[in-house]
Amino acid sequence: MDTSCNLLLLLMFLHYAVGFTNSCVKILPDSSSSIVLEVGKDFTATCHLLEGSDYTSDDIEWISENGSIPKQSYRRINETAVSVTVNIDSNLNGWLKCRAAKQSLSFVPPCVYGISLHAGYPPLKPKNLSCIAVQEDKDISPNLNCSWDPGLRNPLIDTTYTVYANVLGTTQKHKAECNQYLARSCVVNLETFPIHMILKVWVEVKNALGSEQSELQNDSSYFAKPNPPLNVQVLAEVNIPTSLMVTWKHPIDRTIMKLSYAIRYRKAASEVWIEVPESFTRGYIESFRLQSLEPYTEYVVQMRCIGESKSSYWSDWSLNVANSTAEAKPASAPDLWRIIQPTANNRNVTLIWKDPVKANGKILSYNLSINQGYKMFESPSIKENTVSQMYSMELPPGKMANIEITAFNSVGASPKASLFIPGSDKELPGVEDMSWSVLDGKPESKLQVKWTAVLPPRPTLHLSEYLLEWVKITQSVHQTELQVGWQRVPKNLTITTLNADLEKFKRYNISVYPIYKNHSGHRLFQAGRPVTRPAYIQQGTPIEGPTVKVKKSKKNSAELTWDEIPLDSQRGFITNYTIFYAIGNTKQWKSVTVDPNVHSHVLTDLASETDYVVNVLVSTEAGSFKGTDCTFKTMKYGDGEVEVIVVVVCLGFLFLTVFIIMFCLRKREVIKKMLWPQVPDPSDSSIAHWSPDFPIKADLPKEDVSVVEVDVFDGKSLCEEEKGVLPLKKDKYLSEEHSSGIGGSSCMSSPRHSVSDSDEGDSGQTTSSTVQYSTVLGSGYKGQTPSHQPPAFARSESTQPLLDCEEHPDHLNESQSRSSYFRRGRELEPGVLAPECDGGSLTFCPVQEEEVSPVTEEPPASALSYMPQKSGYRPQ
Ligand SMILES: *[C@@H]1O[C@H](CO)[C@@H](O)[C@H](O)[C@H]1NC(C)=O
Ligand SMILES: *[C@@H]1O[C@H](CO)[C@@H](O)[C@H](O)[C@H]1NC(C)=O
Ligand SMILES: *[C@@H]1O[C@H](CO)[C@@H](O)[C@H](O)[C@H]1NC(C)=O
Ligand SMILES: *[C@@H]1O[C@H](CO)[C@@H](O)[C@H](O)[C@H]1NC(C)=O
Ligand SMILES: *[C@@H]1O[C@H](CO)[C@@H](O)[C@H](O)[C@H]1NC(C)=O
Ligand SMILES: *[C@@H]1O[C@H](CO)[C@@H](O)[C@H](O)[C@H]1NC(C)=O
Ligand SMILES: *[C@@H]1O[C@H](CO)[C@@H](O)[C@H](O)[C@H]1NC(C)=O
Ligand SMILES: *[C@@H]1O[C@H](CO)[C@@H](O)[C@H](O)[C@H]1NC(C)=O
Ligand SMILES: *[C@@H]1O[C@H](CO)[C@@H](O)[C@H](O)[C@H]1NC(C)=O
Ligand SMILES: *[C@@H]1O[C@H](CO)[C@@H](O)[C@H](O)[C@H]1NC(C)=O
Repeated sequence: MDTSCNLLLLLMFLHYAVGFTNSCVKILPDSSSSIVLEVGKDFTATCHLLEGSDYTSDDIEWISENGSIPKQSYRRINETAVSVTVNIDSNLNGWLKCRAAKQSLSFVPPCVYGISLHAGYPPLKPKNLSCIAVQEDKDISPNLNCSWDPGLRNPLIDTTYTVYANVLGTTQKHKAECNQYLARSCVVNLETFPIHMILKVWVEVKNALGSEQSELQNDSSYFAKPNPPLNVQVLAEVNIPTSLMVTWKHPIDRTIMKLSYAIRYRKAASEVWIEVPESFTRGYIESFRLQSLEPYTEYVVQMRCIGESKSSYWSDWSLNVANSTAEAKPASAPDLWRIIQPTANNRNVTLIWKDPVKANGKILSYNLSINQGYKMFESPSIKENTVSQMYSMELPPGKMANIEITAFNSVGASPKASLFIPGSDKELPGVEDMSWSVLDGKPESKLQVKWTAVLPPRPTLHLSEYLLEWVKITQSVHQTELQVGWQRVPKNLTITTLNADLEKFKRYNISVYPIYKNHSGHRLFQAGRPVTRPAYIQQGTPIEGPTVKVKKSKKNSAELTWDEIPLDSQRGFITNYTIFYAIGNTKQWKSVTVDPNVHSHVLTDLASETDYVVNVLVSTEAGSFKGTDCTFKTMKYGDGEVEVIVVVVCLGFLFLTVFIIMFCLRKREVIKKMLWPQVPDPSDSSIAHWSPDFPIKADLPKEDVSVVEVDVFDGKSLCEEEKGVLPLKKDKYLSEEHSSGIGGSSCMSSPRHSVSDSDEGDSGQTTSSTVQYSTVLGSGYKGQTPSHQPPAFARSESTQPLLDCEEHPDHLNESQSRSSYFRRGRELEPGVLAPECDGGSLTFCPVQEEEVSPVTEEPPASALSYMPQKSGYRPQ
């Protein structure tokens, strides 16, 4: 199929070739080149059969690029001619062919003739023709750049733009041609730029479908564009702070062009230009004074120029030139404020201030005057030439103060700002309600504060304005300076946007103060009571969790406490705390949520003797942070259970003890016989006769006296001293009781040390021997009446356990005074036991607290009770 198709194409080409060269048809109009036709018009072509052709008009067919043209648009003229009319559109480009061929099979070759058509538009008239010759060096350039608006319609066919320039009065015609489609500008060279002559310029647009032209005629200077003014300078004027002098040089000689100038200026900080009215700068001038400027402000100046009477193009603006106006006296007062921090019994007043808004110069110092007094002001204390913007002072609560401040720059002083601080009990009312909200805006969100208007409480007071204060609250250690800001709000407003970029996640205290003005006497400004609210511009997730502690854990409950996390870590208002707890590592958490002001909680319904894990989650609006885990174990026994057990055990033990005592008493005789067999009465012995009665008697009374004194004196203090040691002793006592096997608490107390220390011997024996000593002492001493002769105890061996007892360190510590006394006694009577025993009896004191003093003061009773033992001793 491909090959057959190709063959067909080849055949067709051959026919064309034949047709063009040897054609039997011809088209009128005919052209060797393309025929240019205007888009939108009708075009009629006629196909003629040449003489001698075999065809008739019926055999003629018109063919366009798109194929056969329908017969309706044909018109048969006569036998040999057929015309066709087509509407030209912008796409009709290419061949239009006339073909003559027999419809039936024929050997006569078909004839074809074609013409080339090209659609296009005639040119549009160029609009807004303008020509410009810029300044080059000291002259105007001879190259005149003319530009125009060619219109938007593409002519589709070749179009030429020719610019002609002619200086009127001369014959010379300068010309420049630009052939591109829709040319917009063309530069024509005038050789020299004509001065003060009329210049005629026109542009001619031409193509196959037509031509158009625009012309311009004006004074040559209208075509010129000068350079901006030269060497523009802005000079500050020393004594006139509101003006600046601008000077410049003419950019072109007046013989070529006489210029006038324009000046514009703006504050360096602003983008808005202010133009000096042209009437002020008309004329061939080279300087101008800008006036009504603000002092101590940098201004930027630009200039341009134009031919006189606007007879040229404006020059470009000159480059920026800047200078500052001179300083002037500050035109407004400093912004004075105070922070009052109550201390223990004073007020710490910190005065802070800002530079005047219209400082008109660099503020060099302040003149601060503080007038204090209880009823009336005393003479002011003046602090001159303060550079700092802060001053702290102590103000007693009852004292009032009026503060005045002026600011100085190099030129002079500002108006005075004043602030009155009343005694702390004379505060004026503040606003009522106050609330804040966050204004969401890009790029920074701001805080909006709202409050209710306040009415002055007295007719002499007027509301002057409101003051909004914000203080950043930090807990950081380095909080050396107050982070305070404030802004003043007109009195007719009760809502405003805080004019500060507050830090995210930081707490601020926002306060609103009404400022009153007192019209009586001085003009005193005074702040009312503030209303303060904490605020965050944006809240965040806490960055620290609370550390939980278990304060008390019981059988089924536990009391938890935690501290509030540091303010800097809170990063928002705490909305609640959630306590999570679980058994051991089961991870089956239960939780309880409590209010933000709660810092302890009692967990109930816990299992006894179980390990628990607990932690506390702190939440703000933005998120939560979990504290570290804390583990604790609940108790095995509940409250009182242990006590019950202890009481039961103690009671049991008491009963046992009582039982043993009873038993002892019942079987006393038996026991006594077993332990202390009958011994002869020493008084009957012959030893009694050599007993050194006299020396003992002579010495003993002295001894006696001193003993009694010590007893009475020391007895109580001793008892008190020993009270503290009592529990310990009781313990020992209990443990030793078992070993001794002997009941009688009164008996047991004294020998306890001896028992433990001298346990080589049989315990029963030692106990008895010591018991005997103590009793013997008591009796031997006090009851040692002349009639009696107990001093006859000269038992050297039996002192052994007692000495041990005395030298026992515990014992010594317990009773220093006693032992010192003891030693004295022993020195006095080394060979005699009586003092030692007496000392021994003293040691019993703590145990038998109530009975001790009686023991010493009522020797007969004890003496009596122990009498039998005396006799029992002898044989040892
Ligand atoms: C030829 O065909 C093209 C494409 O189909 C069409 O855009 C154009 O208008 C046609 N030209 C004429 C003269 O009919
Ligand atoms: C047919 O018309 C054309 C043009 O009008 C003319 O030139 C030609 O002589 C005519 N032919 C005959 C046979 O009339
Ligand atoms: C041509 O001049 C007219 C009037 O002066 C103006 O409105 C228009 O914007 C100018 N067009 C161009 C392309 O400069
Ligand atoms: C002539 O002026 C036109 C329009 O202002 C500009 O585009 C063109 O570059 C200028 N030609 C020359 C040679 O400066
Ligand atoms: C020269 O041009 C200006 C501004 O376009 C115009 O006001 C003035 O009439 C023109 N002068 C002449 C002579 O055409
Ligand atoms: C600004 O003005 C001062 C005083 O006239 C002058 O000395 C100084 O050069 C000027 N500065 C500038 C940048 O022009
Ligand atoms: C008063 O407050 C200021 C600012 O916080 C501080 O610097 C100053 O030490 C304080 N004075 C006293 C006495 O507390
Ligand atoms: C500061 O103020 C006091 C009283 O208002 C005044 O006497 C003194 O001259 C002032 N100091 C200066 C430097 O002007
Ligand atoms: C507040 O008062 C000022 C003038 O003192 C006025 O310009 C402004 O419009 C007033 N604002 C309102 C909200 O009334
Ligand atoms: C605790 O505070 C968070 C954050 O504001 C909140 O989503 C949650 O509902 C609060 N829980 C309770 C029990 O109120």
